[in-house]
Amino acid sequence: MPIIQTIGISKVFNIGASNEFTALTNISLTIEAGECVLLSGPSGSGKSTLLSILACLAKPTEGAYFCMGEQVSRWSEKFLTRFRRQHIGMIFQQFHLIRGLNVRANIAIPLVPQGLSHSRLKAAVEQAAEQTGIAHKLDIPVEKLSGGEQQRVAIARAIVAQPAILFADEPTAHLDSHNAKTILDLFANFQKNGKTIIIASHDPLVQQHFFISKRLIIRDGMLAEYSFKI
Ligand SMILES: Nc1ncnc2c1ncn2[C@@H]1O[C@H](COP(=O)(O)OP(=O)(O)O)[C@@H](O)[C@H]1O
Ligand SMILES: [Mg+2]
Repeated sequence: MPIIQTIGISKVFNIGASNEFTALTNISLTIEAGECVLLSGPSGSGKSTLLSILACLAKPTEGAYFCMGEQVSRWSEKFLTRFRRQHIGMIFQQFHLIRGLNVRANIAIPLVPQGLSHSRLKAAVEQAAEQTGIAHKLDIPVEKLSGGEQQRVAIARAIVAQPAILFADEPTAHLDSHNAKTILDLFANFQKNGKTIIIASHDPLVQQHFFISKRLIIRDGMLAEYSFKI
């Protein structure tokens, strides 16, 4: 059973209004557990929209989406939120960190609903910070960090709960090439542990990376190419 399967999904924004816009049309794809999939395509082609549906943050307007065997496209927001907390990590293009909180508190967010002991929570946060190279800034408010550092906090937060599927929207966009390589190595390691990774990116450094097992290209909201690494 694939970990992700979409059957003819479409996404229309502002249905019925004068600014109605079809961002995705009839997308069918499957992703097996343990794969690392690259989603590429020009700016505005629908990568972020597709990623947000696959990460259960938005619902398709048509078609069916099965994630880990469940038809999540039929679920209410409440069930989706719980499912997302348990299984999904997301690295947003714009980070979505919480200003006013320090690095430690931002990374801890996905763990809070789990009700871990203070020492286990602290250990998990520090391990994720260690892995993403941000451990030296744990007590600094996030708004005082550089863009690259904020990106690393966003990545630490996405992996801290050990999700089965990690989604990343342009994860290297704010990083210099050294930090980008560090993050890609981290993804490779994550995948080695059996996790599934889906990355939207047009960074050549990501596109050439050895761990990419499948490439999907979208153009104007349609799946244009579907290729496998040989
Ligand atoms: N909430 C929204 N309402 C209306 N249009 C949207 C919305 N989100 C995205 N779009 C439009 O959908 C298209 C695809 O956007 P996006 O998925 O962000 O593309 P990409 O990530 O490939 O750059 C764009 O034309 C964008 O303007
Ligand atoms: Mg985008």
